[in-house]
Amino acid sequence: MSRTFYITTPIYYVNDVPHIGHAYTSIAADVAARYKRLAGEKVFFLTGTDEHGQKVEKAAKEKGETPLQLADRVVSHFINLCNKLNISNDDFIRTSQDRHKKVVQTLFKTIEENGDIYLSEYEDWYCTPCENFLTEKQLINNKCPDCKRDVEKLKEESYFFRMSAYEEKLLDHIEQNPEFIQPLSKRNEVVSFIKEGLRDLSISRTTFKWGIPVPNNDRHVIYVWFDALSNYLTAAGCYIDEERFNNTWPASVHLIGKDILRFHAVYWPTILMAAGLPLPEKVYAHGWWTVDGEKMSKSLGNVVDPFRMADEYGVDQFRYFLLREVPFGLDGDFSTAALIGRINSDLANDLGNLLNRSISMAEKYFDSIAPVPSELTPEDENILKITKDALNVYKESLDSLSFNKALDSIWEIIRSVNRYIDHSAPWKVFKEDNEKRLKTLIYLYLESLRYISVMLYPFMPESSTKMWEQIGIIDDHQILNLKSLERWGQLKPETALSKGKLLFPRIDTAKQKKGKQQQMETTDKVLENYISIDDFSKVELKSGIIREASRVPKSEKLIKTMVELGTESRQVVAGIGKYYEPDDLIGKQVVVVTNLKPVKLMGIESQGMILAAGTKNSLNLITIDDNVEPGTVVR
Ligand code: MSP
Repeated sequence: MSRTFYITTPIYYVNDVPHIGHAYTSIAADVAARYKRLAGEKVFFLTGTDEHGQKVEKAAKEKGETPLQLADRVVSHFINLCNKLNISNDDFIRTSQDRHKKVVQTLFKTIEENGDIYLSEYEDWYCTPCENFLTEKQLINNKCPDCKRDVEKLKEESYFFRMSAYEEKLLDHIEQNPEFIQPLSKRNEVVSFIKEGLRDLSISRTTFKWGIPVPNNDRHVIYVWFDALSNYLTAAGCYIDEERFNNTWPASVHLIGKDILRFHAVYWPTILMAAGLPLPEKVYAHGWWTVDGEKMSKSLGNVVDPFRMADEYGVDQFRYFLLREVPFGLDGDFSTAALIGRINSDLANDLGNLLNRSISMAEKYFDSIAPVPSELTPEDENILKITKDALNVYKESLDSLSFNKALDSIWEIIRSVNRYIDHSAPWKVFKEDNEKRLKTLIYLYLESLRYISVMLYPFMPESSTKMWEQIGIIDDHQILNLKSLERWGQLKPETALSKGKLLFPRIDTAKQKKGKQQQMETTDKVLENYISIDDFSKVELKSGIIREASRVPKSEKLIKTMVELGTESRQVVAGIGKYYEPDDLIGKQVVVVTNLKPVKLMGIESQGMILAAGTKNSLNLITIDDNVEPGTVVR
């Protein structure tokens, strides 16, 4: 039985909703999985959610839910994300599932029986957001070196995994398997980390409950990373279905983000070694996305919502952009301007145009029937050569997870054929009445579209399928695979074509900008009506008792008062004469603005303002309960 190509994404924490980071790994893994299936390989593609741990327990408590209720609620977002982005995973694991509990406990027992788990006491630091144990030396300014957040001091009984015993063995493995950690720069980082010395790893906690209990000692729950990493074994059938496990494990590749490399390239292989299990063939750490040049964070409000991107710009467009824009393994910057740029230039201009003009010409010249070609000219042969070379680069690139290079190779074909259409000028050939040549040319364009659409399928499954419809091969399962690209001419002449809707409409940036500007203007208007808290705190308000009051001569409106404000008295002229008699005011406790610049009203200085609520026809002083001392600040 042939070995399965087994690919995994990290399992996502359920204390967050899906963002571009989650979408990125899932899309990359999906492309790799679809590519292998297209190449005829057996594939097992796993994703899922990481549901245990202190963080989730705490988040659930804050929401008044049980941890499982929280997980049940949040997991649906991640399942929806898979559906939305067309992720073709074969399994979705949740670490709260029973099947997983059994595997984690068996793994724990196996290592314990092998003598590499022992009970002792942990006394050091812990970063809850990263669920990571840290030494004093690792802290930077007393914070977690990875997420820069506060850490807590732990002192508790704990089971330890004897990771230190595997230092040499792991270094040897990395050296003997240059493909094990990728990209190369990351491999070097890991090697340096190991060479600093591996400590035994605390693998249980006693201060919370939401986790898998240690076998025979349920005061302890198993450390969340030990639990989480084991998901890769559970889904492969470890300790449950030996035959399937042997055909599936070891994983061909764990795709992860660079922040969780240490867990996958140090903790995980040593745990597997201790359990006597083979190591994954490859751990590939991709880079991180920033957004418009800034780190993505909830507090900055710049978190990219993959659901919104897919709705606004198209699922395939979003998938394409993420894998085209940045070499896998490097950090990249996301902006809608860059996304629109790619859609308009690569998809609408290059690919959309090629498809559209080829199908239109076939419609115009041959009633939408793929014509029968004749012999090729050396120039035609050159296109075949370009296609063949591009296909080789494509395969090599996808085998090494260089997604952007694979896309480049497809665009090499697209651009070459577009140029060749201009150069071979079929419209002239038509005018010259050279039908034989015209048929050969149109067939060549259509056949190259078959290459392009099959090669694009892993990246843009929906659009490729629509292209297959247009070039009439949607039901021809024999040629919808990579093997069929080994031989030119598999598109059957006389196939009926069907011109469809524009696959990649241009995004009108002017309209978009206008929309955005209008939106910003409205926001600005709304904002104009606000003052900031800083503005508000400039106003000093105090409670005061009116001790004296008299009318200002010759004024219907103004009353002069003396207000007691605790340590001082102020003369305040108030425009309340139409609604109050001076005598009614004496003894009232009111709110006074005490830091207004003094002004003169009908020649009398007013050193503040008394607040009142009013309309055109009524006015009421804002008064305060008697039990507030005069001079008390009002906030
Ligand atoms: N639960 C752990 C993984 C356990 S795997 C046995 C975890 N979960 S996570 O939900 O926090 O992160 C999942 C993935 O998202 C990680 O691979 C992380 O690198 C990735 N990303 C988070 N933010 C990201 C970006 N801004 N850009 C790209 N990927 C990022 O860690």
